[in-house]
Amino acid sequence: MRLTFIGGGTMAEALVSRLVGRGVVTCDDISVVDPVDARRELLHEQYKVHVHATPAECLGRADVVVLAVKPQDLLKVAPQMGRLAAGQLLVSILAGVKLETLAASFSHDLIVRAMPNTPAQIGMGMTVWTALPSVGESHINSARTILSALGEEVYVPEEKYVDMATAVSGSGPAYVFLFVEALVDGAVRIGMPRPMAERLVNQTMRGSMDYLVQSGRHPAELRNKVTSPGGTTAAALHELEKGSLRTLVAEAIAAAYARTKGL
Ligand SMILES: NC(=O)c1ccc[n+]([C@@H]2O[C@H](COP(=O)([O-])OP(=O)(O)OC[C@H]3O[C@@H](n4cnc5c(N)ncnc54)[C@H](OP(=O)(O)O)[C@@H]3O)[C@@H](O)[C@H]2O)c1
Repeated sequence: MRLTFIGGGTMAEALVSRLVGRGVVTCDDISVVDPVDARRELLHEQYKVHVHATPAECLGRADVVVLAVKPQDLLKVAPQMGRLAAGQLLVSILAGVKLETLAASFSHDLIVRAMPNTPAQIGMGMTVWTALPSVGESHINSARTILSALGEEVYVPEEKYVDMATAVSGSGPAYVFLFVEALVDGAVRIGMPRPMAERLVNQTMRGSMDYLVQSGRHPAELRNKVTSPGGTTAAALHELEKGSLRTLVAEAIAAAYARTKGL
């Protein structure tokens, strides 16, 4: 499988590093197009991939073209790429850009749309993806191979789930980081030194998530286990419920989803 990345930024580098590192493809099979000299030099130095300033130099040899520019650069990049060859698969990771828009921009019908998230950079991502109906099984398998390099991947049959995933797993790391900050600030408020608070909170978040996943239990069951009658946890949970934490989170996700649909 020969791959051409259009855009050599953060996400393209995550994919390149993991695909080459796991031996899914060789560095010789990868070309990256990026207008920035420094990015091209870094990618070539670090991963030994082919690098180009414009797509014309390498697009023809690709089996799969991964579109990894910022969404606002789509209008600029589509004319530079021109027509894709029949049989070439386009995998777009552009947040919020619909299959319909991609199909119209490239006059092409072999297109996959994926929504990864930032932990993809350490291979712990959650990528939700779908494809135009004309994408056949072998191309679906190619897309799955590429996207699984970023962590977990879930194929969904309807594009609306990619939009929903944008609000849940796409923006999700930001929600988690905000909650981490709030816990640390709360600990500092009661007098704990910040470095100590950060260490405690980070490990509590990581440990709780691993425990939840490994136990296979419902989060409410695990929460009830640490909530003794009249105890400290019950007092804290009462304050969170009084502040409508669940409603607030539900409204936050609904706002992100509405914004995604409006993009
Ligand atoms: N980062 C994430 O975790 C994440 C998560 C989900 C989805 N995404 C999506 O992934 C895409 C890439 O995100 P990113 O964080 O990797 O962005 P990024 O770091 O800004 O990378 C985009 C790269 O594309 C280059 N570029 C701009 N115009 C180009 C052109 N005409 N031809 C070739 N390359 C061009 C940019 O160069 P300049 O710097 O000169 O513009 C930049 O190096 C975005 O659409 C984003 O929505 C990212």
